[in-house]
Amino acid sequence: DDHDHHDGHDDHELRVSKISSGTVIDHVRGGQALNVLAILGIDGSDGEEVSVGMNVPSDRFARKDIVKVEGRELSQDEVDVLSLIAPDATINIVRDYEVVEKHRVERPDVVEGVLSCPNMACISTGDEPVASRFEVLDDGVRCAYCGTIVRDEIPSLIDT
Ligand code: CTP
Ligand code: ZN
Repeated sequence: DDHDHHDGHDDHELRVSKISSGTVIDHVRGGQALNVLAILGIDGSDGEEVSVGMNVPSDRFARKDIVKVEGRELSQDEVDVLSLIAPDATINIVRDYEVVEKHRVERPDVVEGVLSCPNMACISTGDEPVASRFEVLDDGVRCAYCGTIVRDEIPSLIDT
């Protein structure tokens, strides 16, 4: 696979190090790594140990991004939202340097309470205790309350 090319160029290749325990989000579409960090609420200020590879060569796609988060496993909500921007991602759970679980993300039909509607008049954004709810479309999400459709701006809706 793409992490192990012993073709004589090893000395020239700089790899993102392995992690001891945590999560590797692999096969992220090239250019989406920073959005992955936004979804996970990682901006470096909490001292998390995170490695990011952007536009690294991949067998499956021409280029991929990869995000490695030390000491953290992801919630299902986080994985659901990740699937919206990284539909081909693989989530690898690492313990004691070994990959102990590997699964592909799956696009859910609905995401609840994770994104906030950009429509300020939407009932889900007001003072009412209404959890946000978005239906997942092929190319975006639609607010179940007001019908607003969001395609490219999904990362900006992340409720942190
Ligand atoms: N990885 C890591 N730290 C570890 C173990 C694995 O950072 N202690 C990373 C690997 O570098 C790789 C990903 O986690 O990017 C998945 O590891 P592995 O399943 O060993 O690699 P592949 O077989 O190449 O995965 P796939 O088939 O999903 O491409
Ligand atoms: Zn709405």
